[in-house]
Amino acid sequence: MPGGPRRRATAVLISGRGSNLQALIDAAAAPDYPAEIVLVLSNRPEAKGLARAEAAGLPTRVIPHHAHATRPAFEAALTEALTEAGAELVCLAGFMRVLTETFVTRWQGRLVNIHPSLLPAFPGLDTHARALAAGVKLHGCTVHQVSAEVDQGPIIGQAAVPVLPGDDEPALAARVLEAEHRLYPLCLRLLAEDRIRVEGGRAVIQDPPEAGTLIMNPDQERPG
Ligand code: GAR
Repeated sequence: MPGGPRRRATAVLISGRGSNLQALIDAAAAPDYPAEIVLVLSNRPEAKGLARAEAAGLPTRVIPHHAHATRPAFEAALTEALTEAGAELVCLAGFMRVLTETFVTRWQGRLVNIHPSLLPAFPGLDTHARALAAGVKLHGCTVHQVSAEVDQGPIIGQAAVPVLPGDDEPALAARVLEAEHRLYPLCLRLLAEDRIRVEGGRAVIQDPPEAGTLIMNPDQERPG
């Protein structure tokens, strides 16, 4: 884009369906979006998200974790692929491998993840079932920087959705996923524009987009 702002080279790591990858692909299709996807990397050859990347004309790589004897060997292969692709930023989008401190430190401040809960509630797996079991009235998703402790890095952004009477796991998961698709492109924009500073383990956003002041469920009674 001659004369335009530089777009930050971004890799997206996936393990499956790739609907968050799709949201990032769609966002990056806008010429003024500050990130461009230079590589989609999967640890699973059967990941459906690979077809989404190919349909968008993006380079893909498959690095199966079980083809490597150790976690550090697998991660060295990841880093090599990321470096070869010239990636400056890395988005985990349903990438289901735990990363070691070495890898996380190597990419510190440039590596982000999306997690399907309002962290620090419900880290780990089965977040929607656990939210339903706990009876929370708001649930949602979080984009955070990745640190060595799983699901604990500085929080960049969150989106909340109501848990509605009659929700089952698929219904709640679908509502959260829609929120993920809105949140992730926004948070990658903040990262790519260098608007995130970490102070005392917390992410501070420069010029954050305006948020509403109250998200309530049940909401106030509506007349009529
Ligand atoms: C998303 O809900 C994402 O938040 C979650 O996996 C799903 C991937 O869906 N990630 C994690 O649970 C990470 N621990 P997608 O492949 O359609 O983007």
